[in-house]
Order: sequence, then C-alpha cells, then structure tokens
Amino acid sequence: MRNVVRCGLIGFGTVGKGVYQLLQENAHLIKLRTGIDVQIVTICDLRTDLVRREVSGITVTDNWRDLLEDDSIDTIIELIGGIEPAKTMITECMKKGKDVVTANKKLLAEDGDQVFDLANSGSAKLGFEASIGGGIPCVVSLKSGLVGNRVHTVMGILNGTTNYILTRMYDKAIPFDDALREAQDLGFAEADPTFDIEGHDAGHKIALLSMIAYNKKVHFSNVQVQGITRITLLDIMYAYEMGYVIKLLGISRKIGDEFDIRVQPTMLPFKHPLASVRDEFNGIMYDNDMTGPVTLYGKGAGGLPTASSVVSDIVQMAQKDNIYENAISLEGEINYMAPGKRKCRYYLRLYSEDKAGILARVAGVLGNYDISIASVMQQEVEGTYVPIVITTHGANEEGMMRSIGEINKFEFISGDVVVIPVEDFE
Ligand code: HSE
Repeated sequence: MRNVVRCGLIGFGTVGKGVYQLLQENAHLIKLRTGIDVQIVTICDLRTDLVRREVSGITVTDNWRDLLEDDSIDTIIELIGGIEPAKTMITECMKKGKDVVTANKKLLAEDGDQVFDLANSGSAKLGFEASIGGGIPCVVSLKSGLVGNRVHTVMGILNGTTNYILTRMYDKAIPFDDALREAQDLGFAEADPTFDIEGHDAGHKIALLSMIAYNKKVHFSNVQVQGITRITLLDIMYAYEMGYVIKLLGISRKIGDEFDIRVQPTMLPFKHPLASVRDEFNGIMYDNDMTGPVTLYGKGAGGLPTASSVVSDIVQMAQKDNIYENAISLEGEINYMAPGKRKCRYYLRLYSEDKAGILARVAGVLGNYDISIASVMQQEVEGTYVPIVITTHGANEEGMMRSIGEINKFEFISGDVVVIPVEDFE
C-alpha cells in the first residue's frame, strides 16, 4: 500500500475539473477513511492559461511528456478521450511503471489490446471505472463485492442521452426529434449526437463490462449495435399499453459456451428493475449464479460523478500491490455467439393498407419460419395506412429477420417493419 499517491492529470475538461474539485473538497475525508493522501502534482492541458486561472499550487504544462519523465508521479489520470494520442500516452506511462486511470471507453473497447496486455503483464495497474456508468461503481462491484460469483448476464441502460430521449418521448408524448432537441438544449446530448443515439457509446460500455464479468477479451467490433432512431412515439405508447417500457439496453449474456453481446432497443416489463431507470440516469444489472440479480443505479455522466469513479480507482490501486488486483485480468478472447442464433420474444410494428387478407399473409410468412404469434393489435384510424402490432412467442432471430425481409417487400406495407425484442423478468 502507498500512503501518498502523486497524480499527473491529462485533460482539464469537465471530468478533469471534477477530479480537481473532488480532491479539493474530499481529500481529507479520503485520507481519514483509507490513510491515503491523493495529490494532483501536475496538470497537462493545451489551454495552460485557462488551467492556471482555475487551480493553485499545481504545475501546469501542455506537454504530457513532462508527466512521463517526472519520476515523482506514480499515477496518470488520462481524461482526453479518443484513440490517439491517448493510447501512446497511456502505454508509454504504463511501460514506465506508472499506474493509469482512464475514462477512455473508446480506446479500451476499440483498440485496447496493448493497454490490457500491459496491465495483464503487471507492468502497471489500469483503472477504468470512470469509463462505464459515470459515478456508478460497476467495476469494483464485480471485482470485489461479487467476486465469488459466475456472471450469467450483464444488462444495462448505459447511455444517459438516449435514456433521456426515450423518457421524454413517453412523458410528453413528443416525437424523437423534439426529445433530442430538448436533450441538446439541456446539455444531455451533444451537438452531434450520432455516437450516443446510434448506440456506439453503450456498445463500448457493454464490451468493457463483459470483459470484467467474464475475464475474456471483448472487441467492440464484435458487439451488435443498434440505436434508437427508428423508435417512434407510437411504439412507446403501444409498449406502455402492453405493460412495457422501451429502453436502449446493452446486453451481454452467456448462452452455453457462447456469449451474445449487443446493444439494442428492448421492451422491458414494468416490473423489471431497469424499467424504472428514467431520464439521464443509468442502471446496470448483473445476474449471477450465487446472488441472482443485483442492480446498480445512478448518474452515468457528469464531471463530479465521473470524478468519483476516477478517485475510487486511484485509491484502490494505491491500496493493492498484487498484480491480480489490476483492474482486469483476461484469459484469451471471448467466444462470440453468431448473429441470428438468439431466441426471444418480439414486438413487431408495421404500417399496412387496411384490406382483407393482409393479416393472413403476414401471419403466413411468420408461420413459414415457425414463429408463433402471441397477440395482434390493430386500431381503426383515418388514413391510407394503419398501424398493426404483433407480438410473438419465443422465436429464432435469424428466422425473424428473414420473415421481416419478406414482409417488408409486400406492396401493402409502408416503410419497414419495426422489430423490438422483448425481455422478461421472472
Ligand atoms: N454520452 C454519454 C451518455 C456519457 O449520454 O451517457 C459519457 O459516456
């Protein structure tokens, strides 16, 4: 155990400032609780004048190599994000034996091999609690509180932007575009929201959570990712009538020896623990062999919540000397389940002309693929096309996609059928 941790902070943005503020306010408390004195020695940011105006008693530089070459710094906090130059900074610092704490999910999920290999080899420790779920201690929960469990399923609402949009669409009965605009006005969504609304951010996070849960390498490129742009207000309302909410879920499930890892809009029954995760909040549920389901809930973004996770990693790494207490130790690559093999219940929504024989033709296609219909709903509305909602019993995904391909070609259908998997919670 180290009693003093001397940190170099790279990136003085929202989270960097949060780390500084947290330590200004709570460093004494941390020392009281753990005996560890966490200090920021140097801050690296290109905007040196701005940083100097906001901090005192800390060296400020625009050259990260000053931190690399400073032997008195034992821990690097990387908060600039993106792949390069963050990857070079992290790997060079780890090779020099400096522990690294990062919030960089993109680097770790898309190009993390070298960083994880360095952590696994014991060169230095790596903490990435802040990469997932903001202030929710989801990594440390798995690594310590739940360490005696085999994890079957990780399921999470991992993106606050999309959760805010879906919640607002329902609460105010507004379309996607209006909810997105509101999220942008309030600072919950970026000016370019693509990364969040297309599910990539949640995809990075479920890849990282899967690595910790199963101790295997998981690459983001193998995660099946679908965003929320095709979800309409109508789907949200129908889901509600049936007792479900639509959430963008990251799901990672062990099925036999294979792992199904994906991000997709999913219908959750009201009684599901994640169904009540609203607004910009995140929720993560681990389903384990010993405990059964365990759910964590909290703020998934923001300077101070994310800073809390950064500081948690710093303190834990200082407390532990054993290399197995790195943030992660990995045994080879995960065995991905081939797309299409999953079986689940589905919600289908289509717009169709209101003519005799249409339902029979749609049902016929589903029947040809051995898909059993559980319910059908059609309301009388004015207009050329009417919405039809079908739910199915458990169906094979490949058969479902093939049947939808056929249904989409019917001349009486307008647009593409919306397909949403349904999760149950017994
Ligand atoms: N943009 C993310 C979200 C937070 O909306 O949850 C950072 O991962």
